Formats: sequence, C-alpha cells, structure tokens
Amino acid sequence: MNPIRIRSTQPDDLPALIALQERVYPDIPPWDLHKLQAQLAVFPQGQIVAEDDNGLLGCASSLIVLWDDWSEDHNWSEITGDGSFNNHNPAGRTLYGAEVFVDPTRHGAGIGHLLYQGRRTLCRAMNLKRIIACGRLPGYHRHAEQMSPELYVQNVVWGDLSDPVLSFQLKEGFSYCRIMDGYIPEDIESRGNAALIVWLNPEYDPEQPTIIPEEVSP
Ligand SMILES: CC(C)(COP(=O)(O)OP(=O)(O)OC[C@H]1O[C@@H](n2cnc3c(N)ncnc32)[C@H](O)[C@@H]1OP(=O)(O)O)[C@@H](O)C(=O)NCCC(=O)NCCS
Repeated sequence: MNPIRIRSTQPDDLPALIALQERVYPDIPPWDLHKLQAQLAVFPQGQIVAEDDNGLLGCASSLIVLWDDWSEDHNWSEITGDGSFNNHNPAGRTLYGAEVFVDPTRHGAGIGHLLYQGRRTLCRAMNLKRIIACGRLPGYHRHAEQMSPELYVQNVVWGDLSDPVLSFQLKEGFSYCRIMDGYIPEDIESRGNAALIVWLNPEYDPEQPTIIPEEVSP
C-alpha cells in the first residue's frame, strides 16, 4: 500500500513542484521559486499538494479575490499578479483556483479529485461563498478548425465531446459560465482560451465572517 495524501505545501516542496510542473507543461515556462515562495507567504492555507511515499504527485494553488473586481474580462497573469498572488484579498469571498496539476504518469488515478476535494474543504472551512477558476481547454486545438471555443465547450457540456480538463471539472461538480479569450495566450493547445467555471459552497453563511484558520487539514 502506498496511500495518497493531501497536505499543505511546505517551503521544502517547492523545488520538486517546479520540476513536476516542467514535466506537466513542457511548452509553458514554470513558476520560479520566488513566485512560489510569495504564494506561500501570502496565503499558505490555499496551497496544497498530493504525495505518496515516493514523493509529490500534484498540487492545487488558490488565492482569495473580491470577485466584483474581476468578473469582467481578465487573464491569468492579471488575476494572479503574474503568479505572485499579490492580488490575494482576504476581504473577498471567492476562492480562485490559480493552478492544479497532477503527475502526467498518474492521471486518472483520483489524485485531481483529492486535490479538488481539498479545495472544497478549504472553501467550507473558511466560509467562502464559492470557488471560481478558469480552466484550460487542451482538447480544443483538435477542433479549432471546425468550431468556435464556445461551441466546443457546449459540446463538452452536452457530453458529445470530452476535454481532458473541463470534463474533469464538470465531474467535480463545477458549472460552466463562459469562455475567457486570451486567458493564457501561450497555451497553444487551448488556443489561449479557458472556461470560466464555478462551484457554490452549499454551507456558505453570509451572516458569518470569513474564517482564516491557522491551518486547514485538506
Ligand atoms: C486535469 C487533471 C488535474 C485531472 O487530474 P486526474 O488526477 O487525472 O483526475 P482524477 O483521476 O482525479 O479524475 C476525477 C474524475 O474526473 C474524471 N476525468 C479525469 N480526466 C478526465 C478526462 N480526460 N475526460 C473525462 N473525465 C475525466 C475521472 O474519470 C474522474 O471521474 P470518476 O470519479 O467518475 O471516475 C490532470 O489531468 C492534469 O494534471 N492535467 C494537466 C494539467 C492541467 O492542464 N491542469 C488544469 C489547469 S486549468
């Protein structure tokens, strides 16, 4: 038995996370150490990893935003402060998913599910209203000659096409809202597009403040 565990990211994890990210996205420059250190300093509770006895298997990184500031068009670089999370705003009520990835040799083994479960646990523990993310559409390039990104995503929502990221997110209970054009311009597979998705926290209580726990057990 080599069980998979979810836990908060620690400073010692960062070099291995960068190496893993390079394997996940060979064509996209990875985060540098300083950005990851900044994320941990700004919002340690929002950074989680998956591991087994052999090492790190994936991560999910989040910040809190005041959604009214961002509900119009934005791209990944703008909302994440170019990966530094300097837009993190504890006064907001939206947990914003900046990144999630799993070791490419371990896809389909439930690790992404555990990381998303960790995010939902965090959202509930902090009494946040929702999780919003803009997911890549890595399957779009295969259909880009035949259809717009909107029609592609509609086909995925209808169940007539499958996308490696959006199909996973829909299975995780997220709802599709709209296409974000130019979200990650260098993401060739997605042709720069992303799908804005949302999950509403059923336990959110607007009468209660946001809770910032010292630590959350994801
Ligand atoms: C997206 C990603 C995180 C999913 O992680 P994963 O560990 O492979 O997903 P899981 O095994 O936990 O799958 C959870 C559920 O989603 C479903 N799912 C996962 N990938 C799927 C796919 N390509 N198509 C359809 N369903 C899929 C699984 O079947 C499972 O549902 P089930 O419980 O009913 O069987 C992973 O593929 C990844 O790291 N992709 C590359 C990085 C990336 O693009 N991240 C997104 C950034 S926006």
